[in-house]
Amino acid sequence: MKRTHSCGALRLEDVGKTVSLAGWVDRRRDLGGVIFVDLRDKYGKTQVVFDPERNQEVHQIADQLRNEYVITVTGVVQKRPEGMENDKLSTGKIDVKIDKIEILNTAETSPLAINDPKEESRENDDLRLRYRYLDLRRPWIQKNLILKSRFLKEVHNFFHENGFEDIETPVLCKSTPEGARDYLVPSRVNPGRFYALPQSPQQYKQLLMIAGMDRYYQIAKCFRDEDLRADRQPEFTQIDVEMSFVDQNDVMELFDRFVTEVMGKVWDFTPPSPIRRMTYAEAMLKYGSDKPDLRFDLEIKDVTELAGNTGFGVFNSVMKAGGKIRGLAAKGCVDFTRKQIDDLTAHVARYGAKGLVWMRVKENDEVETQVGKFFTVDQLNALRDAVGASASDMMFFIAGSEKVAATAMGQLRLEIARIKGLMNPSVREFVWITEFPMFEYSETEGRYMSMHHPFTSPMPEHLEMMLSGNLKDCNAQAYDLVLNGVEIGGGSVRIHKPDVQEKVFRLLGLNEEQVKEKFGFFVDAFKFGAPPHGGLAFGLDRVVATMEGFESIRDFIAFPKNTSASSPMDQSPSEVDLTQLQDIHISLNLPKK
Ligand code: AMO
Ligand code: AMP
Repeated sequence: MKRTHSCGALRLEDVGKTVSLAGWVDRRRDLGGVIFVDLRDKYGKTQVVFDPERNQEVHQIADQLRNEYVITVTGVVQKRPEGMENDKLSTGKIDVKIDKIEILNTAETSPLAINDPKEESRENDDLRLRYRYLDLRRPWIQKNLILKSRFLKEVHNFFHENGFEDIETPVLCKSTPEGARDYLVPSRVNPGRFYALPQSPQQYKQLLMIAGMDRYYQIAKCFRDEDLRADRQPEFTQIDVEMSFVDQNDVMELFDRFVTEVMGKVWDFTPPSPIRRMTYAEAMLKYGSDKPDLRFDLEIKDVTELAGNTGFGVFNSVMKAGGKIRGLAAKGCVDFTRKQIDDLTAHVARYGAKGLVWMRVKENDEVETQVGKFFTVDQLNALRDAVGASASDMMFFIAGSEKVAATAMGQLRLEIARIKGLMNPSVREFVWITEFPMFEYSETEGRYMSMHHPFTSPMPEHLEMMLSGNLKDCNAQAYDLVLNGVEIGGGSVRIHKPDVQEKVFRLLGLNEEQVKEKFGFFVDAFKFGAPPHGGLAFGLDRVVATMEGFESIRDFIAFPKNTSASSPMDQSPSEVDLTQLQDIHISLNLPKK
């Protein structure tokens, strides 16, 4: 049963050798008596040939082969006849004439068409996840997992070479707030008490800095009970890092090097060095997002003054109410149909826009619009110039609160880029977003919340402002790394002074009692000499998926969950025995169906 080669190894140089291969039947073709089988393993595919004139008995066994049977074969490597080569296979210049075969296992008909190319696999997601072990036989998914594994090896090397220690932190722990719900684990020996699964190892890594470990990293599993999307899984992996005696520049510079030295090694591209930086304010203004996709321009312009001081009531009243008007030149989009514009209007409505004004720039640079009667020709021309539009462009305008005008315009920008095919998957645009607001007002909660997490330090020059209670204008020493419009990492410099931390908790509406209960151990630790420290976490799955041009991180996780956080394969989460529940002192109070 020993194999001499993998199914991806044989080349012209091997012609004449007797070899043994093992693997799965990827495809079987019967051409006038001669049977051709593509034999597949992790390393590739090799065509093996069963000729009745060479060996009648072996040919008869080959006749029973079906897709996904596991076999081992022995035979002689031959050059394929002229015109029969397969350029798509690395082994495509040869095939193997078989003299011996053993069927190691048969297989039922696979519910998934494993040998379909990626673009053609049409099974629904739940079917794929139910038979994930078959789905994973597909070469393109195996390639993803292998790539992630290679990347991880380089990640480990990089951090070790730079003096970081790989330290594990608990999975059964006290909840760390990262903005999602916790997954809870009841304690049998402590009735009525619960562990939380970590949303991130945030507090532990900070405690390691207080402990004097200086440089920590970990490939850490994180768990978050939140609404799932293509780039969000309930459990995912972070490359988690923390450093002592650093400022935010040191952290960003380390990751500039990380991108060059690690990602530049694993992927064939020229990493930016250093990665460009953009403030949060600039990103929101120009791209309507804190994770701008910079593969294309389509820059947003603020036209509040110009558009607000016209006869157009909508714009007028928004400006008077303190809102903003933002405009965008959609290059080469003058031919957008009524239907396309309606769709775009519906799209921005999802982000709170009450409407969408559009104007066409005609061949002679004249501006044509349905709301033209509210503007003078000069005003229309001024708007055209302000957004940088010219002949054959369409202009779009949204008026609203600053947040709505920015984000709805940002989403319009992305949608136009999608329509125009501007999101080139082979282009990689990195950008650091810096100077995030320290706090964010939550309408639903009716109070200010931390934009990053409550351990994030304000900018030194904003400390006074924060202490005096001005939360709106206070920025944090927080930074995100964005790649092609995806947030692949984020971090901050932490608060290391106990009095500042106390104050932040107070500003977030937590009283002494609540702080003690939630973060008592953590706050205590800072009384014993905490060094200045900061760090960052990379979303491992997102980095790899985005570098490969995939939208879904699921294609890089061996056993992911579906969008309802369950696994169609093992049926988790599942019901458990009553006795198991009794052991952990839990009785169910289920919602009525
Ligand atoms: P943050 O919450 O920004 O920061 O997370 C860091 C990175 O983790 C990735 N990520 C996810 N990936 C997949 N599925 C999810 N549900 C998910 N949620 C987050 C993102 C994100 O940029 N403790 C801080 C880091 C720090 O301050 O050092 C933290 O967890 O790529
Ligand atoms: P209305 O006055 O609601 O009929 O709107 C007139 C035009 O202005 C329509 O094309 C609307 O889509 C557009 N519009 C209305 N509100 C806004 C807004 N807040 N921002 C941009 N366009 C708007």
